[in-house]
Amino acid sequence: MAGILLLLSVVAPSCKKKGSDQDVKFVAPASFPQPVYNMAANPLTQSGFVLGRKLFYDSRLSRDNTIACGNCHQQFASFVHAGHTVSHGIDNKLGHRNTPALVNLAWSYDFFWDGGVHDLDLVPPNPIKNPVEMDAQLPDVLAKLRNDSKYPGMFKAAFGTDEINTTRFLQALSQFMYALVSANSRYDRYVRGETKLSSDELAGLALFQQRCSTCHATDLFTDRSYHNNGIQTGISDSGRYNVTLDPADIGRFKTPTLRNIEKTSPYMHNGSLHSLEDVLDFYGASVHYSPTLDTVLQRGGTTGITLSADDKVKIIAFLKTLTDDDFLKDPRFSEQ
Ligand code: HEC
Ligand code: HEC
Repeated sequence: MAGILLLLSVVAPSCKKKGSDQDVKFVAPASFPQPVYNMAANPLTQSGFVLGRKLFYDSRLSRDNTIACGNCHQQFASFVHAGHTVSHGIDNKLGHRNTPALVNLAWSYDFFWDGGVHDLDLVPPNPIKNPVEMDAQLPDVLAKLRNDSKYPGMFKAAFGTDEINTTRFLQALSQFMYALVSANSRYDRYVRGETKLSSDELAGLALFQQRCSTCHATDLFTDRSYHNNGIQTGISDSGRYNVTLDPADIGRFKTPTLRNIEKTSPYMHNGSLHSLEDVLDFYGASVHYSPTLDTVLQRGGTTGITLSADDKVKIIAFLKTLTDDDFLKDPRFSEQ
């Protein structure tokens, strides 16, 4: 009996870990540009990541303990709020913008549709304090965590002592979020020479490179810059202008990534389009003119992008190759 117990205790730590216990590592895909998040100031550790994940899924981060980050950012939908036009938070209150995907955040220069926040570590206080999202005060949230039976030990494992402070809280959340790397879609495997794409998908990729990739650029599928793509009929949300107060930025929004786009409906900052067919029909025929409309979308005296019915079918076939099931189902990123 004692022999068996001894054997188990010797063998267990070297067993290959599986599922949610599997170690998380940050690996920058070879096909991506250099990451920009300052990892040297907040290195990814297993205990920091596990703490960040627990915080991300903990509804005690909201005033009445009902709304977690993970309520609006759902893994199976690439961390958007599936089916919700605009954000839906505490007391059933609605915000005014669609929830963006949380993927490849280590490559983002700034955050939110208008780029109003420049550091991933400074994102969480916004939803936490927002009266229509989580409506809480950070000191109250930290007090709840200090009184919890598990958190002090988890902060100690991650940061060396059991002190729970704002910096550590934000760094743990960032560790979880910057570890959310999506780079194993069929498209990525095609880029790595591991699989083939169909002739429709390849034709869609070529069309995409001609018509879409000025803005949805690089393998991040975003140029990480701001454009007015003509989605608003009248400018009710000024977007980037709210941050810069430069009139040229009126109606400009951050180009969203298209990774896992099949799973992140509804689309655009206002959630006004519901399918990829709607998106292609929009670019083909419904791009609204306003003085800041991107010049790429007003060539040859008309607005929009010339697309035949066949072009649309092929581009959509290509966009679906960006679905990364390993990412959407990775047990390490799920609520435990
Ligand atoms: C009520 C829904 C809701 C909750 C709760 C929520 N978010 Fe968000 N999140 C949004 C919306 C909507 C945006 C876009 C806001 C904007 O652009 O004005 C957003 C944007 C973000 C972004 C920026 C993504 C990008 O690419 O620009 C990050 C990061 C993020 N949220 C993380 C979090 C974290 C961490 C929490 C918990 C502390 C959280 N969110 C809670 C709805 C929510
Ligand atoms: C001039 C730059 C530009 C071009 C060209 C462009 N896009 Fe976009 N795209 C954007 C911007 C900016 C947004 C967000 C606009 C908003 O919500 O106000 C966007 C949004 C989208 C969305 C919604 C993403 C989401 O998460 O909500 C999809 C899908 C999309 N574009 C696909 C395409 C396709 C396909 C093409 C080519 C046919 C294309 N785009 C061409 C800039 C561009």
